[in-house]
Amino acid sequence: MSGGPYPWSMYRGLWSPLPAAPKGAYLKGKIVIITGATSGVGLEATKQMAKASPEQLILAVRNLEAGAKILASIKKSEPKLNGKVMYLDLADLNSIKTFAEETKTLKRVDLLVNNAGVNPNFDDAPYKATNDGYERTFQVNVLAPFLTTILLLPLLKQSSSPQVIFSGSDTHFVAPSEPVQKPIEQGRSIIEAYNDASIYNNGKRYFESKLLLQMITRSMIKQIPSINTINVNPGLAMTNLGRDFNFSVSFKTVYEVVWFLLNARSAGKAARNLTSAAAWGGGSQDYWSECGPAASENMYLYSAKGLKATQLFYEEMVKEVNKISPGCTNNLI
Ligand SMILES: NC(=O)c1ccc[n+]([C@@H]2O[C@H](COP(=O)([O-])OP(=O)(O)OC[C@H]3O[C@@H](n4cnc5c(N)ncnc54)[C@H](OP(=O)(O)O)[C@@H]3O)[C@@H](O)[C@H]2O)c1
Repeated sequence: MSGGPYPWSMYRGLWSPLPAAPKGAYLKGKIVIITGATSGVGLEATKQMAKASPEQLILAVRNLEAGAKILASIKKSEPKLNGKVMYLDLADLNSIKTFAEETKTLKRVDLLVNNAGVNPNFDDAPYKATNDGYERTFQVNVLAPFLTTILLLPLLKQSSSPQVIFSGSDTHFVAPSEPVQKPIEQGRSIIEAYNDASIYNNGKRYFESKLLLQMITRSMIKQIPSINTINVNPGLAMTNLGRDFNFSVSFKTVYEVVWFLLNARSAGKAARNLTSAAAWGGGSQDYWSECGPAASENMYLYSAKGLKATQLFYEEMVKEVNKISPGCTNNLI
């Protein structure tokens, strides 16, 4: 199975009207952490959640100055907001561990929104590794949100209804399954294959990262049933996600920009997908799109091979985060 063209349902979703952002105090009494609150979908979701009376709203960001400015600006309209800005760089595993240590002063965490992410472009581009030695998109989009979640589990478990949201993407529909399936058939580690520069395909990496995030979500729903886990598709949106794109003038670039402008929704509308999941999500949902539960159209996820791969990948990830922070997976359930 390999990635094909975007299914029409993706366009239908983008063109159908979304419900308004949830209103009322749906976060009353809740301590909320959101990553990537400085831009795009995360920034707009932060603004929407600030209106929902959270007990505390923590902006976990890699640019503290930008975070502080955003919080100050939100407080002009929400003066009662108990907001806090904390440093978190997902491309640096030590930063995630320090962040988790610093959150230990909290009584609990009720909602963790793992929103921050990167898109390395859809063109050929060289492999980029983090200082931790992982391929950058794999670390920021997959490993880091999972590690953050596992390290915050003790605090999430102090909540009466803990919820974890991942910013996924409908682009996982077109992710090829080979990068997961091939290593399994070769008796090789999936994580090792994803981080192998010699077989790296930059153009498909964003889709692949969101497929892996689907696999993490589906596994967490089974393996950590005490947490309500939701994988949310914000939908194609006008944000800064294209910061790594090559915008040199060519017919292809012009076509892509026009296509994007014709189809993308505003970041505020995209953020409604995150805030609707927080307000109306209820239990776990393996895929949430257009402000409600939805079905993934990636058929590999439902196939016998895909189900097995999901289990194997999760098992590897549990071992990986345990290597990064020994003992962190001792109390998974
Ligand atoms: N835009 C879309 O069309 C679309 C569609 C589907 C899914 N999504 C998903 O939505 C999420 C938000 O993306 P967006 O579109 O809002 O993009 P964006 O405007 O580029 O925002 C990304 C956010 O992630 C943060 N971030 C990036 N790398 C980080 C790191 N190493 N450590 C900590 N924070 C980091 C950025 O921080 P800085 O401000 O410091 O750079 C920024 O706040 C992503 O997971 C993306 O995959 C987006």
